[in-house]
Amino acid sequence: MGFPVVRMRRLRQNENLRRLVRETTLSVDDLIYPLFVCPGKSVKNEIKSMPGNYQMSVDKLVEECLEVRDLGIPGIILFGIPEKKDEIGSEAYSDDGIVQKAARALKEKVDNLLIITDICFCEYTSHGHCGVIKDGAVDNDETLKLLAKQALSHAKAGADILAPSDMMDGRVGAMRSALDKSGYTHVPIMAYSAKYTSAFYGPFRDAAESVPKFGDRRAYQMDPANADEALKEVKLDLEEGADIVMVKPALSYLDIIYRVKNEFGVPVAAYNVSGEFSCVKAAHGNGWVDGERMMMEILLSIRRAGADIILTYFAKDAAKLLK
Ligand code: PBG
Repeated sequence: MGFPVVRMRRLRQNENLRRLVRETTLSVDDLIYPLFVCPGKSVKNEIKSMPGNYQMSVDKLVEECLEVRDLGIPGIILFGIPEKKDEIGSEAYSDDGIVQKAARALKEKVDNLLIITDICFCEYTSHGHCGVIKDGAVDNDETLKLLAKQALSHAKAGADILAPSDMMDGRVGAMRSALDKSGYTHVPIMAYSAKYTSAFYGPFRDAAESVPKFGDRRAYQMDPANADEALKEVKLDLEEGADIVMVKPALSYLDIIYRVKNEFGVPVAAYNVSGEFSCVKAAHGNGWVDGERMMMEILLSIRRAGADIILTYFAKDAAKLLK
């Protein structure tokens, strides 16, 4: 049966009709807000390439997290900017590291908010790569030992979920066994399983001060041309014990989100990364687009592709609109 009997516009006539037949929902329950913590007191430096986002000292971070919690956002993901960097990124696994201090303060002062911590070395190494350098390249297996130490130290400090973003082979297994041996069997791992080499990380690297000093990350992050490979990455992470798998970035990789959700049926997170955020903000600032509508359309599209969870710098703005 077709036109004139079938008229698709019949169910689009008004908002209540549209509400009844809407297939995808976006809720504050789906959102995670990324935050950057730095040393000092009363520090709140706006990140130029990411309007409305800041590097914050622990005291300011606590204030921010109270606001985030009161907006109903279930959790934050924390990135650290250390006091000093070195060759092996030792502050990453120090119990007095910046993220560890922040996690302890947040656990003490902010209840009812999940603290997810990013597990990686690029913010902590003097060369800006995601692990230990040997012969000009990141040494996978040496890095695994340090990632396991970092994970354990974050768990000890009170992190609720650990999120490895380094893309070393075997990191989920290495972290899981280190956690389990020390009594942290209950701490979930959200793995950045399909993390692509991407120009969309540009503003983040300003924010986290993590631009690599030589070369790039193509020898460990995924090639944007590959999709089957993402499924293999996800499968391996699940076998090693990942509880949630992530696709990153989100917008240029909606097909990957879709395939991962369909193939595995596990909780899938998508990272709506810094460049995706900044492009919208810049275009809105120039008066070229309606940034608010664009934000909601983007977040909805990520959900429609199959993501259960969205990590996004839009989390606060979206939560306010969804209220
Ligand atoms: C690496 C990490 C990166 C992001 C999150 N974790 C960047 C990178 O690989 O350079 C990017 C997030 C964003 O762009 O918003 N620790």
